[in-house]
Formats: sequence, structure tokens, C-alpha cells
Amino acid sequence: MAFQVKKAVFPVAGLGTRFLPATKTVPKEMLPVVDKPLIQYAVDEAIEAGIDTLVFVTNRYKHAVADYFDKAYELEQKLEKAGKSELLAMIRDVLPKHVRCVFVTQAEALGLGHAVLCAKPVIGNEPFAVLLPDDLIWSKGRGALGQMVDLAGKENASVISVQPVPQEQTSSYGIVSAPNFTGRFGAIEQIVEKPKPEKAPSNLAVVGRYVLSGAIFPILEKTRSGTGGEIQLTDAIAELLKQDKVLAYQFEGRRFDCGTRIGLIEATIQYALDHDDLAAEARAYMQAALAAK
Ligand code: UTP
Repeated sequence: MAFQVKKAVFPVAGLGTRFLPATKTVPKEMLPVVDKPLIQYAVDEAIEAGIDTLVFVTNRYKHAVADYFDKAYELEQKLEKAGKSELLAMIRDVLPKHVRCVFVTQAEALGLGHAVLCAKPVIGNEPFAVLLPDDLIWSKGRGALGQMVDLAGKENASVISVQPVPQEQTSSYGIVSAPNFTGRFGAIEQIVEKPKPEKAPSNLAVVGRYVLSGAIFPILEKTRSGTGGEIQLTDAIAELLKQDKVLAYQFEGRRFDCGTRIGLIEATIQYALDHDDLAAEARAYMQAALAAK
């Protein structure tokens, strides 16, 4: 099947325990970096990659994500009356007109693999993308997912994004081995979830962007819980490898792990320094704060 990717899955049903107490009421994906929630950055990246159907896998506590993409009638009326057209456009244009949202529920947080499987009725048998919004990827040119979609189309294969990590951190990631990795990509021979450094087949870690063939669904249906008692997407990809070509791709761009506190701080600094209105003040404050330490 040709790898034309039009649908993207955003699994946002995790518990976000690393950001408690904030995530007691605010979903992790709604935490802001400067002035946009994490989910908006991921959605913008997907739309830039040519995606027109956004599938959010949520749970019953995450109304905030659905509300964010819904129309805000009262706020719109107030801004309209007050003549605040710029702000009005900003909240109206969170999504372009040609893009549609679908929400599916993951009743229980049984793991990322299970969350992706919940999107099957919407995706069918097509190739699709998965974006984990807490991996924020900053890039100057084409976004990371766009680069992956291009490669998937050219090579007619699933594509998983990777980046090298220090060997001692392998137990925090899915790790791939791609012995013929040259330039930015190579075919994956093996993928393992969170291996100890001494058992890791390489230091190439999977980050939260995937372009997957629809063939992953029948595999996910049979995948049992693995590491951490969760149904792991990594385990299903390990099965997919036995029947299909799956490429590891090192994207151009910088990834911030906004599922951790330090990652969110780093991203905030980077985006503030890159922001037209805020850069000068942010830089001045950072310099003053460092000088005072
Ligand atoms: P994480 O491993 O970051 O888990 O999930 P988490 O629950 O969100 O956060 P912590 O570790 O407790 O702080 C990776 C991605 O998979 C989604 C999460 O929402 C996140 O985008 N996920 C995970 C689900 O949608 N459902 C699950 O059952 C598990």
C-alpha cells in the first residue's frame, strides 16, 4: 500500500504523574510553552505534514483537550464586541477549516499500544501518524513529522523517529538497532522497550513520532502487556518488523522532552528566545538571573 498519510493519532489519555500536582486538573498536553499548549504544537506539526484528520485518544477526565479545539462562543462574542479582532482570529484559528477532529476514548490507561489501538475504528487499514505531544520538536524548516511522511512515501515503509541518547539513559526509551544506518535513516532490525544500558542494542532512542502501516492494528490486538505492565507500542512494532520494512529516521530539529520538568523548562527558554515579541526581554532576564546567582 502506498504510504500516503492523512490521519494522525494523538494519544493523550496518560496520567501525567510526573507533573503532579499540576496534572491533577490540567492534562499534561495542555501545559503551555510560552503561549500555546503542547497539544497545539503537535497539531500544527501534523497539519504542516499534510494531515487532515486528527484523532485524539482521550479519557473521561480530559475535557480540556476537546474544549480547546471546540468553538468558544462566549469568549468569541466578548472579543467581537470589544473589537479585539487579532485575539478573536487567534482563538478561532486554532485549526484550519479543512481539518477535522475525532475524539475516541481509552477507558483505562493500559499503555500507549492500547491507546493507539483505540483509534483503529477511525483509521481503518491506512498508514497513519502517531504524535506524542509531550515530545516537542523545534525545527526551523519542515517539521519532524513532515520529514517522516516524505521518507515514508519515498521508501514505501513505516518510519519511526529516533535520536541518539547517552548510553546510561537507554532504560527510559524504546531502543532500536539499525546496523545499516547511514545519513539520517536505516532499516530497523530490532526494537526493545526500556533496555538496561548493558543490554541495549544501540543508543538510538525512539521519540514520539511514528508513521505506521495499518498492519500494526491486527498485531496490537494480539499484543499482551509488557514492560511496566502496559501494552507497549514498541512490542507491536517488534512484530511488525518481522513482516514489513520499518525505518528509523533521525529528524532535523531539536526535541524537548516536555514530559519532564526540565524538558518543559528548556523548551520554554528556547521558544522564548525564538519569539519575535519576547526574545529581547527573555534574554535580558536570563542574563540578569544568571548574573545574580
Ligand atoms: P507516558 O509514558 O508519558 O505516560 O505516555 P503518562 O501517563 O502520560 O505520563 P507519566 O509518565 O505518568 O508522567 C506517553 C504518551 O502515551 C499516552 C500519554 O498521554 C502520552 O502522550 N498514553 C500513555 C495514553 O494515551 N494512554 C496510556 O494508557 C498510556
